[in-house]
Amino acid sequence: MKIAVLPGDGIGTEIVAEAVKVLQALDLKFEMESALVGGAAYDAHGHPLPDATLKLARESDAILFGAVGDWKYDKLDRPLRPEQAILGLRKNLGLFANFRPAICYAELVGASSLKPELVSGLDILIIRELTGDIYFGQPRGRRVSPDGNFPGAEEAFDTMRYTRPEIERIGHVAFQAARKRGKRVTSVDKANVLETFQLWKDVMTEVGKEYPDVALDHMYVDNAAMQLVKAPKKFDVVVTGNMFGDILSDAAAMLTGSIGMLPSASLNASNQGLYEPSHGSAPDIAGKGVANPLATILSAAMMLRFSLNQPSAADRIESAVQSVLACGLRTPDIWSEGTNKVGTREMGDAVVAAMTKKTTKG
Ligand code: IPM
Ligand code: MN
Repeated sequence: MKIAVLPGDGIGTEIVAEAVKVLQALDLKFEMESALVGGAAYDAHGHPLPDATLKLARESDAILFGAVGDWKYDKLDRPLRPEQAILGLRKNLGLFANFRPAICYAELVGASSLKPELVSGLDILIIRELTGDIYFGQPRGRRVSPDGNFPGAEEAFDTMRYTRPEIERIGHVAFQAARKRGKRVTSVDKANVLETFQLWKDVMTEVGKEYPDVALDHMYVDNAAMQLVKAPKKFDVVVTGNMFGDILSDAAAMLTGSIGMLPSASLNASNQGLYEPSHGSAPDIAGKGVANPLATILSAAMMLRFSLNQPSAADRIESAVQSVLACGLRTPDIWSEGTNKVGTREMGDAVVAAMTKKTTKG
């Protein structure tokens, strides 16, 4: 089993180090190889996704990714910005299915911005299409506006587009995931305005017919945003396009208390996957040893389950995370009165200790 380790920028290096430590504490044989990505790769090689990094990613069974980006790269041409590394990996490896679970741990109910009764027991799964939509649609660019409200003015444009097979395959992923949990899929669209999302809705309805045991409903994205903060527990699996999924998954993240807790998986058709925390590189706290490594550690657990076929090792990591939370250990993002504030490394050590304790007890 070969894992490409791509820590990236900002807190990426700190949090990935903890996840690697956790993986090494398992009694499994992995080959792990690291490479630069994002701003770090740009600084060293002049490109955010160097050929060597892409090659390593292609050759690996799974990729453990930290985060990319820093304000200092904001003035670079778009193709050289750190974000292009993650977009390039998604596109080049065909990682079209993005799983973003939002689970509210009992111990963190108080850290949510919503009332405890709204989030206690929350367990929803956002499935975001990741290689299409306005993120990748052509044409895009800048020009002199040929028409519209200000003909002749400087204009920028992007193209929202989806093909039927792209919608079908993410639909199947969502229905199959729902089968293994609450058996409900909410497809989020903007069919009342956008042609792209009328096709989305039509295709989801057709795919849904192949899963009579799974209930399907449709929701406009504006309403979905409202329902997520009004009654989030009403959702089970949410499936949506690239851009709506980007936005809704950040909103869902906050329901759980901290985006520092949320893992994610991005899979292609052969279950090769990229695993990364849902949060970014947080340059404001980079290098301070205070970032929460749990999202990355939980991403490593998802990697074991989805790409490396080691479900019991994944369980071990997840229950160790639960037990360090139960012991009251908190990084600053999830800290509250009466709990024990720890740093990145201490949190990783505590997870490793909790895993080891489980083993000796049998
Ligand atoms: C995410 C991020 C990325 C995205 C950026 C960094 C390109 O926000 O993974 O959600 O928009 O997809
Ligand atoms: Mn995002």
